[in-house]
Amino acid sequence: MAVDTLSMPAYAKVNLSLEVIGRRDDGYHEVATILQTVDLADTVTLRPADGLTVACDDTTLFGEANIVWDAAVALAIHAGVGPNAHITIEKRIPVAAGLGGGSSDAAAALRGLNVLWGLNLPDAELASVAASLGSDVPFLLTGGAALGTGRGDRLKQLPASDTTHLLLVAPGGTISRKTPTLYGALTPDDYSDGAQTRRLADSAALTAATLTSDSCRNVFTRAALEIFPGLSDVWERVAAVTRFPPCLSGAGPAFFCMPSDETEQAKVVAALQNTGATAHLVRTINPAHAV
Ligand code: C5P
Repeated sequence: MAVDTLSMPAYAKVNLSLEVIGRRDDGYHEVATILQTVDLADTVTLRPADGLTVACDDTTLFGEANIVWDAAVALAIHAGVGPNAHITIEKRIPVAAGLGGGSSDAAAALRGLNVLWGLNLPDAELASVAASLGSDVPFLLTGGAALGTGRGDRLKQLPASDTTHLLLVAPGGTISRKTPTLYGALTPDDYSDGAQTRRLADSAALTAATLTSDSCRNVFTRAALEIFPGLSDVWERVAAVTRFPPCLSGAGPAFFCMPSDETEQAKVVAALQNTGATAHLVRTINPAHAV
C-alpha cells in the first residue's frame, strides 16, 4: 500500500562526555563520546511529490540550505530512485547549538524516505548514507544512549538509563563554520585518552548520580568559552546557582545542567533573564522508532 504522509519526531542529543584523542589523517579527529537523545524534538513531515522541496519554519534553512535536502539526494542516489518528496520541518531544537538538530532532521528524513519510497533498506545501509552526511547522523537514526568512537560514527548502544531531567541552556547566537572552528582551536593539551568516557559507558546505568559524581568532561569547554561571544557570562551565571557544574554539549554553545530540585531550576531560569539565552527542561529518551 502506498504511504501518504509521514510525520516523525527528530530528537535533540546531548553529549554526556566528549573527549578528543587526536587528529586523524583524513582531516577528522578521533573521539570518544557518550551521546544521549532528549525529548526536545523537531518534527519532520514527508509527503509524496514530483521533485524535491524542503520547507522549514526557520526561513534560513529553506530548500538546498537544509541538510535534509542533502539527505534526500544522498539516499535517492544510493537507492537509484528519483528524489521525489515534499518535506516540511518544524524547528524546536536551537540551530547550530551542539544539540544535533540538523543531524537529527537528516536522520528522520532518511528513516521516513526509506518508507515513503518503499526502499526497505536495512539499518546498516541507512547508517552508511547517514555517515556521509555528518558524524552525528548515524547515532540519531536510532537514538537512546550510545558510546561513539572513530569520528563519532562507530556506535555501541548502551543500556537505557532511568529517565533523567536535564535543563538545556542555549545562548542566543552561534558562529559560522562552528564545528571546524572549534576542532581547529584544540591543541594537543586538550586531548585525552578516552578513558573517562569509556569508564562512564561501562557503568551499569547512566543516571544523574553517576554523571554528577563523575562530572562530565567536554574537550571543547575551554575553546568554546573563549570563542562564543557571551557564552562565558551565561555559563558563569548558571554555575553560580547550581550545585553541579554545567556541561557543554557537542561543540557548543548549548550546555546543560542537572538542577537538584525545582528551587535550583527556578534560580537558573532567573539567572538567564535578559541574556538572550533560552532554557529547555528536557528528559532523556530512548525512543523505539516506529519507522
Ligand atoms: O561530521 P561533521 O559534518 O559534523 O563535521 C564537520 C567538521 O568538523 C569536519 O569537516 C571536521 O572539520 C570537524 N570534525 C572533526 N572530527 C570529528 C568530527 C568533525 O575534525 N570527529
